[in-house]
Amino acid sequence: MIYFDNSATTNPKPVTVLSASNSGMKNYSFNSGRGGYRQSVLTSDKIYDVREKISALISFPPQNIAFTLNCTHALNMAIKGSVKRGDHIIISPLEHNAVSRPVDTLARKGLVTYDIAKFSFDREELVNNFKKLIRSNTSLIICMHASNVFGYTFPIREIGGLCRENNIRFIVDGAQTLGIMPISSQDNVDVLCAPGHKGLYGPMGTGFMAVNDDIDIDTIIEGGTGSSSMNLNQPDFLPDRFESGTLNNSGIIGLGAGVDFVMKRGIDRIYNHELNLVEMLYKEMEKNSRVTFYTPFPRKFDYAPIFSFNYADYPSEKTAELLANRGIAVRAGLHCAPLAHRAFNTIDRGTVRVSPSVFTTPRECEIFINTLKKL
Ligand code: ALA
Repeated sequence: MIYFDNSATTNPKPVTVLSASNSGMKNYSFNSGRGGYRQSVLTSDKIYDVREKISALISFPPQNIAFTLNCTHALNMAIKGSVKRGDHIIISPLEHNAVSRPVDTLARKGLVTYDIAKFSFDREELVNNFKKLIRSNTSLIICMHASNVFGYTFPIREIGGLCRENNIRFIVDGAQTLGIMPISSQDNVDVLCAPGHKGLYGPMGTGFMAVNDDIDIDTIIEGGTGSSSMNLNQPDFLPDRFESGTLNNSGIIGLGAGVDFVMKRGIDRIYNHELNLVEMLYKEMEKNSRVTFYTPFPRKFDYAPIFSFNYADYPSEKTAELLANRGIAVRAGLHCAPLAHRAFNTIDRGTVRVSPSVFTTPRECEIFINTLKKL
């Protein structure tokens, strides 16, 4: 199989991730923070090492990195724990359902109101489109770093600056960029949510929420943390506040190896490799009169290495099926992001999405291009 669905989850995983997860299961199946015996303490240390690795990547304090089941889990915690009745929220025009559904659920319950900023390829205008929606009760802006459908990257630092000026909390969904493009607390981000299994090459079922020191988030899940057990109220210190119940040790330890892999390769190198492949695909596919693109040629840093297209007048699912029959894996349809498809006028048909990884080769891209020619 030639795999172009790395935006859904990266595959394959580095061998170091496989062996670290295996070692995590074998050597660290002890409950961290719950025992004074040596193995439990060593397990806590091992988990803390992973927080430190992530901290080095995103410049949030290690103890403020709470492990979650995935990015959706992290976003739900960040969003629902940030609002109070009567608040107003602004979200980006390309949000994934991981953001739009929790926000819409809060609105349906009558707790908040929300607006969706209008899309523009002009970054200044785009920031202004967020600005125009700010009201006196706007407490939260949520924005993805890059669209999981079109690869478009948002001017996070500028939107974050707008938040700082207006005393608005800024939550960023780094699902498509962590490990591929730089993002950190220095980009005016208050809360950064990310999966472990995409650009960080960790196992599925891993993710995290990273929170700045001065940010107070209420909990949506409470339970045993192994700390302050006398108290019926949830601990107010991190990461315990957000980590109730037993952690996914083998997954987290595998994620640590994924972060090491990314750091060793270098984010710049990974991004350049993947963007070069996307550029190559784009240039060749542009010559095929049956291909429709929805974004301009992917200028460096304006796009994550992801793009969408359609072929002839086929529904996107049909193109994906024809490619699958020829051994090529892509994702078609709406990619859990109906807002993005509304913004790009592709809601009726969806799109075919292509997303390489660090392991994708130019030869695989050539096969893809030639396959498309004969479809
Ligand atoms: N959110 C993932 C995707 O975009 C699963 O495919």
